[in-house]
Parts: sequence; C-alpha cells; structure tokens
Amino acid sequence: MKKLLITGGAGFIGANFVHYWMNKYQSDKIVVLDALTYAGNIANLDSIKDEDNFTFIHGDICDQALVEKLLVEHSIDTLVHFAAESHVDRSITGPDAFIETNIMGTYSLLKAAKKVWLDGDTVLEGHRFHHVSTDEVYGTLSPTDPAFTEDTAYAPNSPYSASKAASDHLVRAYHHTYGLNVTTSNCSNNYGPFHFPEKLIPLVITNILHDKSLPIYGDGQQIRDWLYVEDHAYGIDLVLQNGRIGENYNIGGNNEWANINIVKTISKLVEQEFVNNSELVARFPTAKAAIAQNTESLITYVKDRPGHDRRYAIDAAKTNNELDYTPKESFDTGIAKTVQWYLNNEIWWQSVMNGSYQNWITEQYE
Ligand code: NAD
Ligand code: TYD
Repeated sequence: MKKLLITGGAGFIGANFVHYWMNKYQSDKIVVLDALTYAGNIANLDSIKDEDNFTFIHGDICDQALVEKLLVEHSIDTLVHFAAESHVDRSITGPDAFIETNIMGTYSLLKAAKKVWLDGDTVLEGHRFHHVSTDEVYGTLSPTDPAFTEDTAYAPNSPYSASKAASDHLVRAYHHTYGLNVTTSNCSNNYGPFHFPEKLIPLVITNILHDKSLPIYGDGQQIRDWLYVEDHAYGIDLVLQNGRIGENYNIGGNNEWANINIVKTISKLVEQEFVNNSELVARFPTAKAAIAQNTESLITYVKDRPGHDRRYAIDAAKTNNELDYTPKESFDTGIAKTVQWYLNNEIWWQSVMNGSYQNWITEQYE
C-alpha cells in the first residue's frame, strides 16, 4: 500500500491522475496539496472528496514547513509532483509566478523530502519523488528533425519551459548529490476532461459552442504531439512501479498534428454532434452548428506567440520498451470522448470561464 502526496492534484492532469489512481489502487492513501490558483479547481475532485483514503490540503508547495508536516503526519512514501504554472502565454506576459512555483516550489519540495526521508535517524526505504515534466524542455524541432529522446539536450525557449527545465535539473541534482530516489517523466501535450479552456483544445470546443472566433496563432502550422490525459496517468503509474531511479522517461502517443488541422477536426466533430443530438440546438442556439452553418468560418488568424516553438514530437521508445508502455486511447477515440465530456459538463467549463482569465485572453489576442 502506497501513501501518496500529489501536488497540483486539483489541476487538469493532477486531477485526472488522482481519479485514475483512486480507481485502480483502492487501498492506497492519497493526500492532495494544491494552492487552488486560477487553474486549480476543487470541483475536479468532487466525486472523491468524501472517500476515507483521500485528504485535500489547500496550501502552497513553496511552504516547506507545511510539506514536511504532511510527509510526516501522513507517512507519505511517494510524492508525485504536478503543481506548476503551466500556460506558455501567461509565462510570456508574467514569468514571475513561473519562477516562483516551478523552480522555487520544486526546490522547496526537494528540501522537504530530503529532510524527512533522508536526514532523520533512518532513511525511508522505498521512498520516491516523481517529477512531472514536459517535452517543451527540449526546445523546438524542424519538420524533418527526429523526435525528442531522453538524450536530447535541453534547450527551453519560453519562460515556462525554462522554469520546468530548471526544476528538472534540481530534481536530478538531488538524486546525484543526496541520493533522493527520483524519477522524471517528460510528456507531450495532453488533452481530455478538466482541461482549462485557455489551452487550445478546450478553448476551441467551448468557443464553437458560444459562436466565438477560433484564434490561430501565426500560420497555424505549428505541430504538437497530443496524448489523452489518462494515458499520461498510466505512463506515470508504470514509471512509479518499474522505472529506474534517477532516470527520465518520455511519455507520448506518436500523434503529431498541425494546430490548424486539430481545430478543423474538432469543428467537424462538434458539427456532427449537433446532427446526432437535436437537444444541443436548444442548449447552444447561437452556435453555427445549430443552424447547419460551417463552423470553420470561426477560424481567425491572429498574431503569433512570441518565440513560438514550431514543432514538438516525442520518441517514447525507452518507456515503451523498458516499461511496456502503449497508450490505450487512439486520437479518434480520445478526442471524441473529450468533445463528449465538454458537452456533458457545461456547468464545469461555464464556471471556470467566468474567471479572470477570459479578460486576459481578450486583451492579448482580440
Ligand atoms: P494546470 O495548470 O492545469 O494545474 C496546475 C495545478 O497546480 C493547479 O491545480 C494549481 O492550483 C496548482 N498549483 C499552482 N501553483 C501551485 C503552488 N505554488 N502550490 C500548490 N499548487 C499549485 O497544469 P496541468 O496542465 O495539469 O500540468 C500539470 C503538470 O504537468 C505541470 O507540471 C506541467 O508542467 C506538466 N505537463 C503538462 C502538460 C500539458 O499538456 N498540460 C504536458 C506535459 C507536462
Ligand atoms: P497550448 O494549448 O497553449 O499548449 P502549448 O503552448 O503548451 O503547446 O497551445 C497548443 C498550440 O496551439 C500552440 O502551438 C499554440 C497554439 N494556440 C493557438 O494557435 N491558438 C490558441 O488560442 C491557443 C490557446 C494556442
């Protein structure tokens, strides 16, 4: 039985991971530590909040004393670190929070873990600090470059990816210098339930339903490698079970898409939903799809993101071969499930969209 501290467990990937883990390992204990920033939503954990083996703590990963207390009081043996500032556009206009949470916050967690697990009278055998990182630390690829492997040199280009790269280096150093049992996973772009609608895929789905423009940065030919979020949780699970201490593991689905093609694909899927389900016409009467008009006409090319990385692509051969990892979801099934989730959970995204981020997006790009 594991006792896990999950940081950022009220965010998009963290919440999906918590649901995945609670469902699969029902006798494990889970403590979520989350500061509930604009991106954290306690409603993401609503269905499990009363379970005996689940505890939610509202707090900041930069509070080292709090983290030490949680590690001791809950006899935590496994820390899975998701908490971060995660939106590249926000990192461009306001990098401070990224430096604070992603670098200083990770450093604070490492210090707490070292103190509680290594520096006492006895070392806690079998402890694990798993750090959730991103493929963006490797920089950008040309259309013909080979995909990122774990040996690709770090070359982060945005304040977000630079702050994640810095945290990856600290995690590595705590293993090599102090013997902390660490693993790191570098995953490609995720999509799925609970994805905050400032990111491309949920933004496009919700804007189509509200008959709002679909902003495409630059020429729309930038490429991302998309993975269904539950497959990310599954990959981290395998790293926790069988990953080698001190190693990095790439997680990805071999699923590269140009942004413009993703947007067109989602437009067609939503249009088809309106054909299949007449109730949607009543719920979203202003949507183009409600009056059988072409949704793609909402596509609007806007100014490019500064320093926009052209292409990300993950080579996950190490994880596939060493840990027997294969994503369970194809893009067809994953994106269909995701569109369905947003259609079935309007209250969730409406409440999230009432927040201040909407004004911020408007100021930046409209
Ligand atoms: P998110 O922005 O949806 O969620 C981040 C969570 O962290 C929120 O719940 C927020 O409240 C919490 N948080 C932020 N600052 C905190 C602090 N100081 N103390 C405690 N909690 C804090 O992010 P996400 O998309 O779920 O990403 C989770 C992790 O996965 C991040 O480390 C990110 O770098 C990494 N990652 C994300 C993607 C992706 O496509 N979204 C891909 C690869 C890796
Ligand atoms: P995003 O979801 O922000 O993830 P990341 O920047 O971490 O890859 O963006 C995915 C891609 O979509 C990225 O190339 C930027 C682009 N994009 C748009 O073209 N328009 C948008 O409104 C957003 C949010 C993103």
